[in-house]
Amino acid sequence: MLEKVKELIGDVQSFKTTSKEEIEVFRIKYLGSKGLLKELFNEFKTVDASLKKDLGQALNNLRNAASEKVQELNDSLESNTETKNFYGDLTRPSEPIELGSRHPISIVRNRIIEVFSKIGFTVSEGPEIEDDWHNFTALNLPEYHPARDMQDTFFIEKDPDLLLRTHTSSVQVRYMENNEPPIRTISPGRVFRNEDISARSHCIFHQVEGLYIDTDVSFADLKQTLLYFTKEMFGKSKIRLRPSYFPFTEPSAEVDIYWGLETEIDYKITKGTGWLEIMGCGMVDPNVLKNANIDPEKYTGYAFGMGIERIAMLLYQIPDIRMFYENDVRFLEQFKSVL
Ligand code: DAH
Repeated sequence: MLEKVKELIGDVQSFKTTSKEEIEVFRIKYLGSKGLLKELFNEFKTVDASLKKDLGQALNNLRNAASEKVQELNDSLESNTETKNFYGDLTRPSEPIELGSRHPISIVRNRIIEVFSKIGFTVSEGPEIEDDWHNFTALNLPEYHPARDMQDTFFIEKDPDLLLRTHTSSVQVRYMENNEPPIRTISPGRVFRNEDISARSHCIFHQVEGLYIDTDVSFADLKQTLLYFTKEMFGKSKIRLRPSYFPFTEPSAEVDIYWGLETEIDYKITKGTGWLEIMGCGMVDPNVLKNANIDPEKYTGYAFGMGIERIAMLLYQIPDIRMFYENDVRFLEQFKSVL
């Protein structure tokens, strides 16, 4: 029997495998409750006392060798899988991807673009650093014109004159200089004014400019387009055009929409009137057409301009314009579900 046990020790020590299943078969074969060791220890009881010392030691050696072997094989298997599966377990479900959210300014800008592109307007952009000609002079605002004071300007350089554009109307001029009528374009963008920052105004904000030039364009076309826009954008179909003044349009108007007086907030934002001003507009002044080399005898057109922040504040009931620029995630996260 001693010979047999010694042979088994040899077998155990030379056993090799890299398969988990084979290690388990090996373990059961030697160390299992019905395994070889159990059998041998039972046999051991019947052995002559004089043989017990050597045989007992050999059996202990066999048991230790078998359990050490199992341990050793399992260890090497683990370290192997670690290096082999460099990318981890590929069948494991992945971590959920955190969804970001779009900024409310982008949401509203995209929505405005969508509404106007349905009726054939293209999107155009211009530089944020402008010259005097495109921001003022070509728009019928020559030097010393008092209306320049309406928009406090950040000047960069005097000669050559460079400034941060105070409105997106500058893109109108650039677009007309580079394109022949018929023109239908909207120009979203960032604008800058040297104003004190408060809950209602900021020195950096966004506008969308609209421009339509063709033969026989009338004020009625302008009103119809604005009515379409307010219906699509706000679901409100009552607007009024209040006479106003802008140097680049003649006649000029401000557009109010009837917001309603249903809630307390409606009272607050409309100052109890139910009406809200949302943009400026008018028929493009013939001088502006001329400045951009478009024949005012042949073509007429309308233009409009609106502030994106103002519209976003209305739509989402945002009480303070500064919230748009603070990047507080508690604010931004609220727009998660909106595309
Ligand atoms: N540029 C004007 C502003 O910043 C907005 C505006 C008014 C644009 C009337 C227009 C317009 O195109 O026709 O206050």
